Amino acid sequence: MNIAQIFRNNESWIAEKLKVDPEYFKNLSKGQNPEVLYIGCSDSRVTAEELMGAKPGEVFVHRNIANMVPNTDLSVMSVITYAVSHLKVNHIVVCGHYYCTGVKSAMQSADLGILNPWLRNIRDVYRLHKDELDSIADTEEKYKRLVELNVQEQCVNILKTSDVQKAYKERHITVHGWVFDIHSGKLIDLQIDFDNILKGIMEIYRII
Ligand code: CO
Repeated sequence: MNIAQIFRNNESWIAEKLKVDPEYFKNLSKGQNPEVLYIGCSDSRVTAEELMGAKPGEVFVHRNIANMVPNTDLSVMSVITYAVSHLKVNHIVVCGHYYCTGVKSAMQSADLGILNPWLRNIRDVYRLHKDELDSIADTEEKYKRLVELNVQEQCVNILKTSDVQKAYKERHITVHGWVFDIHSGKLIDLQIDFDNILKGIMEIYRII
């Protein structure tokens, strides 16, 4: 992508927005009130807002390699605290995607330097669901299922935080696990039953 072109694109985007609404940027600068926190993969093919048809101001976004929510990652934890306790979002989405290079790399024997501890969290997901994953003979299907289970486990990590536990009690905040299928463009809701998962894990992880 040509860098100079990016600035030309920006100029046409401004013109387009102002043609529809001359006050567009004036209103945008007043503040944000997003309803959704989206945590997705940094993959250049999985563009958060575009695939959801979301407009600026509607979704608070965090992206990292393989849409992870590690318990000790200050970046994602700060994003959750700010979105849940300050912006008061009512929905948190973890969106994985099939053919995720991060998930695939995690399962291969290679020294990836600083990526080792990051991707090791995915090996933990495999260990937790080893019986199910080992029973899938087809490699592609096995990776697809690992992508789904990784989304589920990152949703569980979200439920472990005090901000989300508090918001669940106060306003029944909901956590959603989704997968984007690059092959078809489809956004799939994994329909994870969080009320049940929450009951199951709260005995161990209850903070408040
Ligand atoms: Co990815």
